[in-house]
Amino acid sequence: MEQAARMRKRGQINVVLKKYPDQEHALLSHQETDVLEKPEHVAYKKMQQELNEFIGLKNIKDFMKEIYAWLYLNQKRQDEGLKAGKQVLHMVFKGNPGTGKTTVARLIAKMFKEMGVLEKGHLIEAERADLVGEYIGHTAQKTRELVQKSLGGILFVDEAYSLARGGEKDFGKEAIDTLVKSMEDQQHSFVLILAGYPKEMDRFLKLNPGLPSRFPMKVTFPNYTVKELLLMAKKMVKERDYQLDNRAEDTLKDLLTYTKEKQEEHFSNGRFIRNLLERSIRSQAVRLLEEGKFEKVDLMTIKSVDLTKAFHHTDVRIE
Ligand SMILES: Nc1ncnc2c1ncn2[C@@H]1O[C@H](COP(=O)(O)OP(=O)(O)OP(=O)(O)O)[C@@H](O)[C@H]1O
Ligand SMILES: [Mg+2]
Repeated sequence: MEQAARMRKRGQINVVLKKYPDQEHALLSHQETDVLEKPEHVAYKKMQQELNEFIGLKNIKDFMKEIYAWLYLNQKRQDEGLKAGKQVLHMVFKGNPGTGKTTVARLIAKMFKEMGVLEKGHLIEAERADLVGEYIGHTAQKTRELVQKSLGGILFVDEAYSLARGGEKDFGKEAIDTLVKSMEDQQHSFVLILAGYPKEMDRFLKLNPGLPSRFPMKVTFPNYTVKELLLMAKKMVKERDYQLDNRAEDTLKDLLTYTKEKQEEHFSNGRFIRNLLERSIRSQAVRLLEEGKFEKVDLMTIKSVDLTKAFHHTDVRIE
């Protein structure tokens, strides 16, 4: 989607879509105007407000603005009788676990609904087992049923490459073929998002040459930095009426640095933080019960020991 979109009507919008070398999709650079505050942009504003609650994700924020601008401008062009670009909205999301893929897909579904692009705006999450059947003909039927359920919304297929796992003879191939056919037959009725680990997604797309052109929008979800993860943690504890004391913050930083390095692409980013904190809250509860401490400040404070105890729990620490 490397195109320049300009609307000079009363000089209100002047947006240029640029291609950055390190990112697969075009980013939007814009001159800040308050034009997006207008009621007609409510779909964008709502989505932006929700997205602003998220730490980091700068490229996703730009990407969402880009799709909005593109759809909006296409509408304006149609109104003026100009040719509007073909709107293929199927996407590929590449990112490690817990980087926000499902959350962002949900937001896109909502925004598309607000904009009238999708009728219902719901998200159906599926994986291989939901699409692939056990006997000949079963797969096509299962996949078609899932597409049927997704009409008016988004069908989000996680670990999409697992469909190509067994090669030519595997039923997974039938699922891919059925999906592709549905994309063509029901072009404007649903959006398909294929998601998964970056390397595996690249390989999958390369091995299925018919696919990349059908998914013009490719979005990379970067791993969060330790700094971003810490901010995320502080936000999550605050939302739950808890706080980390100074030592707990240092411990959390150490745990994050260690785990991120050790698990590499298996590190589950936002999900790791959430699991660790939820576990820590339970560790803290046991500690306070045993210590018999129930002052407000005690009830609120997560200590270093709560984090380390939680960390050693298998729910949190995936080896
Ligand atoms: N930028 C962020 N700011 C705050 N919380 C976040 C952010 N990104 C992810 N999270 C939180 O991390 C958790 C995982 O996010 P999500 O399920 O969207 O990731 P995912 O990429 O779909 O993961 P998976 O591949 O494991 O399905 C959620 O609880 C989400 O709220
Ligand atoms: Mg997910």
